[in-house]
Amino acid sequence: MAEANAGAGTATAAGPAEEVLAEAGLRLEVDGAVATVTLNRPERRNAMTFATWRGLAAIGRSLPEGVRVVVLRGAGPSFSAGIDLSMFSGEGEGFADGSDAAATDRFIAELQEGYTWLRRPEIVTVAAVHGHAIGGGFQLALACDIRVAADDVRFCMKEPALGLVPDLTGTKPLVEIVGIGRALELCLTARTVHAEEAARLGLAEIVVPRDGLDAAVAELVASLLAVNPGAAVATKRLLWEAPQNTLEQQCAAERREQIGRLRELFGK
Ligand code: ACO
Repeated sequence: MAEANAGAGTATAAGPAEEVLAEAGLRLEVDGAVATVTLNRPERRNAMTFATWRGLAAIGRSLPEGVRVVVLRGAGPSFSAGIDLSMFSGEGEGFADGSDAAATDRFIAELQEGYTWLRRPEIVTVAAVHGHAIGGGFQLALACDIRVAADDVRFCMKEPALGLVPDLTGTKPLVEIVGIGRALELCLTARTVHAEEAARLGLAEIVVPRDGLDAAVAELVASLLAVNPGAAVATKRLLWEAPQNTLEQQCAAERREQIGRLRELFGK
């Protein structure tokens, strides 16, 4: 299953093939219930290529079953400088140019898969963000359940300044977190949000000094793993449903999830 889904090459026990990860500029470490995905092109500030997004999707498809928490982090001075700008100058694989709308739609949907799996209820995803998180990098942080930021963090939604829209799943969480007015202001000015404002806006749940980021993430992960696994899955499902549901629907969802919990706890 993992092999079939992980892309070209032979899948390792813990995910996609090493060559798929290397081409994607990603590192994957699985340690029991915790998987750590590192954006690993520090010399390019972890700029992302199509291979990066496909690699992320491959990790999502082949994640070992016992993994409960996934941490995303960046190697070097920045979390990610967003899309690799060399792709605009025609180096490497070209863009779908939009002339075939259906093909472009499929192309972007495939790249978005690199982000959407982070919302699966079976895992809790944590972005450990430091330095720049620009464009696709900002959207990757937004795709995670929880963001822990270093005090040197700089979020920026750069796409509109480049004539594009943010299309890596980021617009929905951005609006849900900061509201439409602030989301418009951030996107249409492409301005940078620093740590203090990020905390105030709810773009980061936790902000710590740069040299305390790893320890803060480790502490959070330990707390997340201390919770009953079934309760964690059910609660994540419930909370992510809440914004779309009416109160009535949400009450029904709470009852449904609790029945599942009670059955498991009391062995019925
Ligand atoms: N694509 C390709 N290469 C990049 C990118 C990128 N997005 N970002 C940085 N690099 C490269 C630089 O070209 C440089 O390469 P070099 O050493 O061969 O000259 C190296 O990474 C280091 O970059 P510096 O600019 O020297 O690093 P610094 O820490 O001073 O600045 C910063 C980092 C702010 C991220 C800056 O590099 C930058 O603004 N990058 C472009 C960000 C951007 O516009 N991204 C697109 C977002 S839109 C989207 O994602 C869809």
